[in-house]
Amino acid sequence: MAVAPNNKAILEVITNSALKDAKKTFDDWAKTYEEDTHKLGYKGHVLCVEAFNKAMRSKDIFPEANKDIKILDAGAGTGIIGEMLVQQGYRNIDALDISEEMLNLAKQRNVYKRYICAALSDVPIDDIQTGEYDVTLCAGTIVYGQAKPIALDECVRHVRPGGLFIFSIRADSFDPVELGYRTKFEEMEKAGRWSLVNREQRELYTHPHDESIRNCYLITYKVLNN
Ligand SMILES: C[S@@+](CC[C@H](N)C(=O)[O-])C[C@H]1O[C@@H](n2cnc3c(N)ncnc32)[C@H](O)[C@@H]1O
Repeated sequence: MAVAPNNKAILEVITNSALKDAKKTFDDWAKTYEEDTHKLGYKGHVLCVEAFNKAMRSKDIFPEANKDIKILDAGAGTGIIGEMLVQQGYRNIDALDISEEMLNLAKQRNVYKRYICAALSDVPIDDIQTGEYDVTLCAGTIVYGQAKPIALDECVRHVRPGGLFIFSIRADSFDPVELGYRTKFEEMEKAGRWSLVNREQRELYTHPHDESIRNCYLITYKVLNN
């Protein structure tokens, strides 16, 4: 299917893209990323903040809710999640992203405490201590060609036991078993690393240029053992 030039970056990162390809894609795309994804009706950030707010309202899911909790916005991009959370009164948020150019735009929002330019991969990120965060939000980044299933171990390492990992994953990454995400999620559950709090299918793009990217799963896990 033909893809409009200003939108094709979404599909440039293919299943077997290397980390450096994802970094280059987003470095090159950064300046028009918000405008382009807005045109497609992208909602990953809104969905993750919605799941976060739902969890914060539930004493069963997250009894320690308060505005000082330490939050990581993983794959922060241009910082929209950080801005939304700061508007709600949260004040202890760090941004992580593989792309320096995306992080440079996030810096202009002046909402994060720390900017960590690093890849979510199988390599531990030295700048992040084990169990450092109460909650990680990760919108639009756990997807083929970006953060691969193997990166989930590192994502969980960042969160303290009892904390939450909240993310969107495109259905075209979650559904095909051969891409490895579902298997990895189940393995981590069986190993007692995390337990599922909620998973629901949602629309990720209201007017996608390609139907394959329309839907995502919005997932919340409680970390049990990092
Ligand atoms: C689709 S954008 C989403 C940005 C933001 N979370 C939002 O919802 O607006 C994906 C972001 O993840 C970053 N990214 C891609 N692969 C990554 C990886 N392996 N580790 C860290 N960040 C990655 C990209 O640079 C980009 O900023």
